[in-house]
Amino acid sequence: MWFGRAGGRWLSSIVRALGRGYTRPWPSHPRPREIDVELVRIRKDIARLVGYVPGEQPQEPGWIKLNTNESFECSPAALEAVRSLGAVELTRYPDPLCGGVTAILAESFGVGAERVVVGNGSDDIVNLIIRSVCGPGDRLVCTRPSYSLYPVLAAIQGVEAVEIPLLEGFALPLRQLCSTRGAVAFVASPNNPAGTLYPPDQVAELCRSGQNLVVVDEAYVEFAETNCAGLLEDFPNLCIVRSLSKAYGLAGLRVGYMVGPPDLAEAVLKVKDSYNVNRAAQAAAIAALGDVDWARTTWQGVIERRERFRTLLEEEFGLRAYPSQANFVLVDFGGKSAAAAQESLRNKRILVRRLEGAPITRNCLRITIGSESEMAALVEALREHLQPETVAQ
Ligand SMILES: Cc1ncc(COP(=O)(O)O)c(C=O)c1O
Repeated sequence: MWFGRAGGRWLSSIVRALGRGYTRPWPSHPRPREIDVELVRIRKDIARLVGYVPGEQPQEPGWIKLNTNESFECSPAALEAVRSLGAVELTRYPDPLCGGVTAILAESFGVGAERVVVGNGSDDIVNLIIRSVCGPGDRLVCTRPSYSLYPVLAAIQGVEAVEIPLLEGFALPLRQLCSTRGAVAFVASPNNPAGTLYPPDQVAELCRSGQNLVVVDEAYVEFAETNCAGLLEDFPNLCIVRSLSKAYGLAGLRVGYMVGPPDLAEAVLKVKDSYNVNRAAQAAAIAALGDVDWARTTWQGVIERRERFRTLLEEEFGLRAYPSQANFVLVDFGGKSAAAAQESLRNKRILVRRLEGAPITRNCLRITIGSESEMAALVEALREHLQPETVAQ
């Protein structure tokens, strides 16, 4: 064969690896270290950088995954759209402007298509915005705790991230945010890790304060009571970023988008990879956005289970469960150990996320709201861990 014997061995080792569900170990961060630069010269700041650590993604089946805020299912219409792809969709490059998805989003937001850009997940969009607006000497303003990707992307761009601590109860430090100038200010609402929603009037105040660009990351907003879309027509420095990973169950395909100022959209289009959203993702996104009944029913179910779960955590287990407007709940274990609870759940093949980055979340678990049966298994496992005496009876 044209690739010869060595190529054949290489190919068959890949096939074997795929068959086994080979998982490449994630580089064990944090590991700031001096790189041996004899062969490859790495940028010094990148060599020192502690990269973003994604949540665990087991590649074998059999886990209840409540650690990365995915949806437990996707729209049947989206699945059908992917199943009906043919050879052309695999062999030809996708639409670089995601015309179909863009048109649906522009209509639903009531804006022109020139204000919309679709990306390979909202992470891609956030990255593109930072690369488009932040240059040497600029600052990026965000809160702490929040989505920990923002400061990592700032560091990669060689930009200082000013992380303003949230106030009591994860409240927005609005005064400080308004007075801290940066090329861009990021506010996640609902915020990660507690699911706190910041009302549109707070975001409006931030836009009015003279910030260059305000980005509201609404990755979880479909599970919330309100959103900032209504502010778009009033504030030319506001950009809304959303995701189809959480509310539409497309985390595996990666689709996110921004609706913002036309000049920002134009810049982002120049910076992005030409074909950043593949054909399967575009087809699924169009179908999912059109499957309104599935979406509304699923979101309502998540909201109901979230509220039931919070009540149970507080009333039965005596734990503090922060109010959440997202598809997850942050649970403070108080006098008990969050690490021990996580380990005990893991032993039952239930994954939840521990967030040790900020002192306030150090003894907390962030738990995604799963399906009815996943939540029942979770509650049972928590009961066995926290109240073994009641379970034994
Ligand atoms: C606040 C926030 N924004 C964005 C994302 C990433 O979403 P996507 O899957 O669209 O890249 C996450 C993922 O956890 C998140 O928590």
